[in-house]
Amino acid sequence: MPTTFYIKTYGCQMNERDSEALACLLEMHGYVETHEESTADVLIFNTCSVRDQAERKVIGKVGIMKKLKRERPALVIGVIGCMAQRLGEELLKELPHLDFVAGTDQLQNIPAILDECIAKKTRKCAIEMGPGVFRELDGHRPGRLIAEVSVMRGCDQFCTYCVVPYCRGREKSRPISAIVDEVKMLADTGTKEILLLGQNITAYGVSEARAQGIYTPEFSAFADLLEALQEVDGIERIRFTSPHVRFMNARFVEAVASLPKVCKSFHVPVQSGSDRILKLMHRNYTAAEYLDRISAIKAKVPQATFSTDIIVGFCSETQEEFEMTHQVMREVGYDMAYIFRYSQREGTMASKTLPDDIPEEVKHERNQILLAELNSHVAAANAALVGATMPVLVEGPSARGPKRWYGRTDTNKMLLFDHTEDIHIGDIRNFTITRATENALYGK
Ligand code: 5AD
Ligand code: SF4
Repeated sequence: MPTTFYIKTYGCQMNERDSEALACLLEMHGYVETHEESTADVLIFNTCSVRDQAERKVIGKVGIMKKLKRERPALVIGVIGCMAQRLGEELLKELPHLDFVAGTDQLQNIPAILDECIAKKTRKCAIEMGPGVFRELDGHRPGRLIAEVSVMRGCDQFCTYCVVPYCRGREKSRPISAIVDEVKMLADTGTKEILLLGQNITAYGVSEARAQGIYTPEFSAFADLLEALQEVDGIERIRFTSPHVRFMNARFVEAVASLPKVCKSFHVPVQSGSDRILKLMHRNYTAAEYLDRISAIKAKVPQATFSTDIIVGFCSETQEEFEMTHQVMREVGYDMAYIFRYSQREGTMASKTLPDDIPEEVKHERNQILLAELNSHVAAANAALVGATMPVLVEGPSARGPKRWYGRTDTNKMLLFDHTEDIHIGDIRNFTITRATENALYGK
């Protein structure tokens, strides 16, 4: 009987992608993926450390696996990802039924770690982050219409609230040729849309260029990458997440505006609209600079839509400063926003130097205000689209029944429609919008 494994993923798209690549690697080593958590021989938890709540969820979940392990002592349980990197041995101590912990730079070693855990019944902690050669796993599940492609790892930005630079290490970018090869392989198996992933994606290639002394403010290896991917036959759409305003120079704006395959919806984290808070966060831009970059894109791409990440209740944020964030939201008119309440993370600069002094009720209230702003803007923006015609990539049946299909517009809006025989998954078809709510568009 082959050894089966089940991977449970928490957190961001980068983790989703790592889990997919790891699943392919394990299958190459003879392990077999199962979707039955309760009967798998190996359980792997790919974890997130960004907010305290995310970590508590994992500790709770892995904690209840103790019972399963008691019933089936041969079961192997591992924790990988950001929490594994951040806590290492501590996790093995806290969770005695855990067999292995493997950090964010250890993906390719997991088959060997697993083999060892199974054969020798030893417990293992592997969290070294070597300066060695950066090898990205490029395996994908077959037949993905939309595929994620990791183009770089780590983050050198060191925003004062963020654990990512500690969990994922320094920025390392893959060569353009390796990314193009991976995308060509995807196109050959039917992928139409790619989502490029990087924690600080507009810094793609920057640390390598700096090391070679060729970095200038006009530099954008990310623009070079987009231009190379534009040429891959079969790929119709290119999205990416997440850019940082600091590297969104004229070369970047020109590339995203002019390359037809680059989707015209941009996720640009703002975090705060107050210059004092942005400085405390170490974001390296002012609200005016942020708005200037958004205007530069809007000037060239009038139909562009924007989404963002915002943190409310960061250390010492006053009501007035919070209002400035609200104001930025009104000015940009986001079509989507992830709004987070500040969560103090051990080891970050903010945790060492800035008190987490905004009461939870205030954070909650600020969060609600921004959510209401977002919802009212999206409802109005969607309503204004009724009557318009736009291309949609057809993804398939929706959760609302087999006849109700869905797809996404270039601007990343979900569109629902009644399926007819002549429409196939993967088609890009023009739809006229007949009705709109704040969650979706309806069309024919
Ligand atoms: N508290 C709250 N939100 C955070 N984020 C990152 N760190 C924290 C934190 N300590 C948010 C930021 C980032 C997104 C991925 O998560 O908005 O852009
Ligand atoms: Fe964290 Fe800032 Fe890096 Fe984003 S840019 S991953 S928020 S340190």
